[in-house]
Amino acid sequence: MIKGVFPVEKFKNIETPFYYYDVDLLTRTLDFVKGEADKYGYEPHYAVKANANAKILALIASKGFGADCVSGNEVQAAVEAGFPASKIVFAGVGKTDREINLALDHDIFCFNAESIPELEVLNELAGAKGKKARVELRVNPNVDAHTHHYITTGLSENKFGFNMEDLEKIVALVQSLPNLELIGLHFHIGSQITDLSSFENLCVRVNELQDQFESKGVKFANINIGGGLGINYEHPNHMPIADFEAYFRLFNKHLKLREGQRVHCEPGRSIVAQCGSLITKVTYVKKGNVKQFAIVDAGMTDLIRPALYEAYHRIENITSDAEVEKYDVVGPICESSDVFDKDVELNGTKRGDLLAIRSAGAYGEIMASRYNLRNLPGAVLSSEL
Ligand code: LLP
Repeated sequence: MIKGVFPVEKFKNIETPFYYYDVDLLTRTLDFVKGEADKYGYEPHYAVKANANAKILALIASKGFGADCVSGNEVQAAVEAGFPASKIVFAGVGKTDREINLALDHDIFCFNAESIPELEVLNELAGAKGKKARVELRVNPNVDAHTHHYITTGLSENKFGFNMEDLEKIVALVQSLPNLELIGLHFHIGSQITDLSSFENLCVRVNELQDQFESKGVKFANINIGGGLGINYEHPNHMPIADFEAYFRLFNKHLKLREGQRVHCEPGRSIVAQCGSLITKVTYVKKGNVKQFAIVDAGMTDLIRPALYEAYHRIENITSDAEVEKYDVVGPICESSDVFDKDVELNGTKRGDLLAIRSAGAYGEIMASRYNLRNLPGAVLSSEL
C-alpha cells in the first residue's frame, strides 16, 4: 500500500494525538489556487471555519487570500492573522449585535446577509456608527450539490439565505434602508462537491437572476460563488491539490458576467484538508473472536467527522511494515460511535505504533471538543520540526 511520507523519527517525542500539517503541501496548494484564480481575476476568501489554527491562517493571509468568516471571533482571528479587513466577508444566519458591531468597527468588505430581520438590525447598527454597511444577499439557488445531507445547503427549504422568489422584494428593501449598500449576491450550494456539474447548475441560476434583475435596472458589482470544492479522501496522495484549474475554468466558461463585475469564492476544505493528518498512538490491540480492534489515543473528540457524518478518512500505520491485517480502528470515548473506521487494512499493528488519519486538515482540529474532559489535540507544523 502506498503511504504518505511522514517524519516519523521526529514524531517520537511529541505527545499524541496531534495534528500534523505539511506546510510544503499547503504552500503549493495556496500558490496553485491563487495562480488559477488570478488567471480570471477571481478573489478567493479562505473559509476560516475549516481550520483556524493561527499559524495556518497567517500563512494563508501571507499569500494574498481574503477570509470568509462566520462569527465575530473568526473575524477577529482573521484580522489578527493578517487578512486585510477589506478582504473579509462575514456570513451566518445568526450574527449577534456584538459580532456585527465588531465587523463594522473593522470596516470589513461585506456582510453576507441571510434574513430580513438581520438586514434591519444591520441597518440600525451601521446607522448608529454613522456608517454604511456593504451587503451581499445570500441566495438559495435550489441546486442539488449531490453531497451528504448534513452539508447540503443550497436547496430551497433550509435556514440559509433568501429564496429566489423573494429576492426582488428583498433587493427593494435593502435599497430603501439608508445605511446599507447592496454590493452583490452570494451563493453556497454545499460542501465536498466532487461532481463539478453542480457548479455548472449554479452558474445557470446566477445567469438567470442577473438577467431578471438587469431587466429591472439592478446590477450587482460582486458575485460570490461560495465554497464547496471536494477533495479525494480515498486517495489523498493522488492529486493532493484539488482541481482548481477545472473549477475556475468552469465558472469562467459558464458565468455570464457584466462589465466590471468581480467574482469571489470561499474555498475551505479544498485548501487545508490534504495538508493535515491526525497522528495517534495505538494504546491496545484487542483481539475478539472474529475481529481485532486497534484502540487508539485519539477519539471522536479530536476528529468528529467519522462519527458525525459517517465520513471516510484513510488510515495508515506509519511505523509498521508488517504484513497487512484488518482492524477496527476505535477511540477511547464512551460512545459506540467513536469508531474511525471498520475493517481497515493496516500493516500489522501493535501497542505503541503510530497511525496517521489522513485528509484531516479541514474540519478536524477546529471541531475538537473536550467531551469526557479530554485534552484538546496538539498541532505541529512540518516547518517546526
Ligand atoms: N462558504 C459558506 C457560506 C459555507 O457555509 C461553507 C461551509 C464554505 C464557504 C466552505 O465550504 P468548503 O469549501 O469547505 O466546502 N463540517 C463539515 C463541513 C461544513 C461546511 C459548512 N459550510 C465537514 O466536516 O464536512
